[in-house]
Amino acid sequence: MPKTLVTANGTLIQIGRELGKGGEGSVFEVPARAEQVAKLYHRQPDAKKQAKLSFMASTVDQQLLSYVAWPQETLHSARGGPVVGFLMPKVMGRDPVHMVYSPAHRRQERPKAAWNFLLFVARNTAAAFSALHSHGHVLGDVNQGNVLVGSDSKVVLIDSDSFQVNAQGIVHLCEVGVSHFTPPELQGLSSFDGLTRTANHDNFGLALLIFHLLFGGRHPYSGVPLRSGVGDTLESDIKAHRYAYARDSQSRGIGPPPRSIPLSIVPVAMETMFHHAFTENGAAGSRPTSEQWVTALDAVRGRLKPCGASSMHLYPDHLATCPWCALEQQDAIYFIDLGVTYTKTTSGFVLAQA
Ligand SMILES: Nc1ncnc2c1ncn2[C@@H]1O[C@H](COP(=O)(O)OP(=O)(O)O)[C@@H](O)[C@H]1O
Ligand SMILES: [Mg+2]
Repeated sequence: MPKTLVTANGTLIQIGRELGKGGEGSVFEVPARAEQVAKLYHRQPDAKKQAKLSFMASTVDQQLLSYVAWPQETLHSARGGPVVGFLMPKVMGRDPVHMVYSPAHRRQERPKAAWNFLLFVARNTAAAFSALHSHGHVLGDVNQGNVLVGSDSKVVLIDSDSFQVNAQGIVHLCEVGVSHFTPPELQGLSSFDGLTRTANHDNFGLALLIFHLLFGGRHPYSGVPLRSGVGDTLESDIKAHRYAYARDSQSRGIGPPPRSIPLSIVPVAMETMFHHAFTENGAAGSRPTSEQWVTALDAVRGRLKPCGASSMHLYPDHLATCPWCALEQQDAIYFIDLGVTYTKTTSGFVLAQA
């Protein structure tokens, strides 16, 4: 017998096959609604979580849905009964962002994607955060698994029921986090219980995702230790602001890894944004916002130029020589030349169809 649930307004919903399983719940197909899936909790959500989901479903809008798999309707075992899950848009054909920023995965899965693709994904990640922040909500548990990316470079955030949601002044907290995405000022806490997250905390995770995308999947605090006590754990290096690519990284006791993409690949203004995001000023509350990242990344996207050696070598025009060629001379090959051609259009570089 297929399982049947009911929405808050009484529509019967038949539950189909399981598509994915998480810590809190599983996600199922909804045969009658090709565009939606149902997330059902392993354990009955408590009254607070039910109120959060009802609020989320009642405030869904098009801007959120462009970037987030946001709850659209709550699901109940019987009409008027407790919330047992919810319906949200189905996200298909998208990969977790780490499969895009990992050079090995990208070369395998998206061999024709050059740096312009990564820039666009970074820009769209910032736009997704911006949509959420402009509604007064905070992602909280930023990590490499809840940002999904498609070949169109579009980004969709999943696991939205874990976000920190501001329900007209009542804040539903996000009480989990991944340590290597946790900002310096929150490192070392025994738990996130009772902690109200801010957009500035999210903006650390956002800058980290953008850094991963633009700099070959590297973590900004992972480098060459220059003294003892440095480089023991990523968490302790984050806490001490040991940003390995900083201009003053020597005094932080760390240097960038060999053969890594140099920070000079981005214009000085963006280098400064990364510096603020990863060092003391940012921790004090002034990290670049998601909106500022959108603007800055769009500006770089508009200033790319091709290299004569390979159509896959696209780089910003403040550089006199191709950084990808320079890296290849050190045997660091980020983009393989498959003979594809990128052509410049009014909307940037696009892959010429064979
Ligand atoms: N909107 C969606 N469309 C399709 N699959 C989804 C969607 N949301 C989640 N999933 C799949 O279900 C899995 C678990 O979802 P998630 O919300 O992360 O669960 P949990 O919060 O319980 O850990 C995800 O890893 C993904 O594979
Ligand atoms: Mg969750």
